[in-house]
Amino acid sequence: MTKHLLIGQTLGFSGNPLLGDWADTIVFDSAGGVLIGGDRIIAMGNGAALRAAHPDATVTDYGDALISAGFVDAHMHYPQTGMIASWGKQLIDWLNTYTFPEEARFGDRGYADDAAGRTLDLALAHGTTTLTSFCTIHPESVDAFFEAASSRRMAVIAGKTCMDRNAPDTLRDSAQSAYDDSKALLERWHGKGRASYAITPRFSPTSTPDQLAALGALWSEYPQCLMQTHLSEQLPEIAWVKELFPQARDYLDTYEAFGLLSERGLYGHAIHLESREIARLAEVGAAVVHCPTSNTFIGSGLFDLMGLAKTSLSIGLATDTGGGSSFSMLRTMAAAYEIGQLRGTALHPAQLMWLATEGSAGALKMSGEIGRLGVGAAADITVLDLHSTPAIMQRAQRAVDIWDAVFPTIMMGDDRAVRDVWVAGKKQRALS
Ligand code: GUN
Ligand code: ZN
Repeated sequence: MTKHLLIGQTLGFSGNPLLGDWADTIVFDSAGGVLIGGDRIIAMGNGAALRAAHPDATVTDYGDALISAGFVDAHMHYPQTGMIASWGKQLIDWLNTYTFPEEARFGDRGYADDAAGRTLDLALAHGTTTLTSFCTIHPESVDAFFEAASSRRMAVIAGKTCMDRNAPDTLRDSAQSAYDDSKALLERWHGKGRASYAITPRFSPTSTPDQLAALGALWSEYPQCLMQTHLSEQLPEIAWVKELFPQARDYLDTYEAFGLLSERGLYGHAIHLESREIARLAEVGAAVVHCPTSNTFIGSGLFDLMGLAKTSLSIGLATDTGGGSSFSMLRTMAAAYEIGQLRGTALHPAQLMWLATEGSAGALKMSGEIGRLGVGAAADITVLDLHSTPAIMQRAQRAVDIWDAVFPTIMMGDDRAVRDVWVAGKKQRALS
């Protein structure tokens, strides 16, 4: 078995720093080491001690760089990579003007292959080792994404986006074809290598009750899969959902009534929740996904991270590209910090790093496997240079402790801060 020893400042977690005192959950070693054997982390501890104990390992000494679990993006749309940063619209107009015309191109397998490869390479260059992606209605777009991820050894979660109304003709399936295509793709991909399939109704406005029911039935046949969708992102969207589903108690009920609410549900955005929705999501142990750059870019609102963290909901962090305006989970953490400030809570850098790794992995029900720098976890690792630009360096040089050194990289860092990325125990070639 090939062994690699990475030496540097190592950061992991023993618990959730959003609950109780964050300091109790930190596993930090300023002279740490991570021993990789095959595709796993097989030992952690003092770097020099590991070096002495494993003379057969190849050693990379990262000095004072920060060795972290690879970032886990819990909600994004790889087909939107090409139209990220499109100007001037809010959600529904943004979908109709920019998103749907772009997604209509993904019936072309070559186009989908190119976008999938480009997106995964951009993610890796930004230190993200797992993506959770919506695809398009085209089954080809799902094959393209899983194949591109498999050739990069990445653990990914994805599914065919289902829509049978309120979308252009070229982007509509039906209740039956959404069920049939999703089922065939799920059987082809779920559990194959590092791939996981997520049943994916886009959001209630673009699915008829028949389609939601068909996908709810599919989920009951395959409850081990995740189900991903959008929930309560923008006020006009919520008003539209009320018109389309007059009998529903609230937005969540449009999923719940059709079997689309359970512990393995991933609900993106979840900004404008009613108290019944919060209680119900917490009761079933579902996950909500915070997409802060998207929420400011599309003008959606301010997610109540601390309020929701107090319930038993799990919370992931995500770029939501291309509604989100960055591929970087560092920039995403910075935006979560800014939204926290606007809501009156300054999130600690430890909490932000946890959200981008363990928090997202927990939302995906993959705790212990990804998003963790610890023995037994997959060796998906991101090494951050804490002095990557002159602006960051001059600030980090004054740092009084590790958090004061990490925070400038969270707030001002980008792909230049990503020194190396290891996926399933192999170092990625230089990507940026
Ligand atoms: N709601 C339904 N579809 C989308 C999408 O593609 N992006 C975002 N941000 N919200 C959505
Ligand atoms: Zn989304």
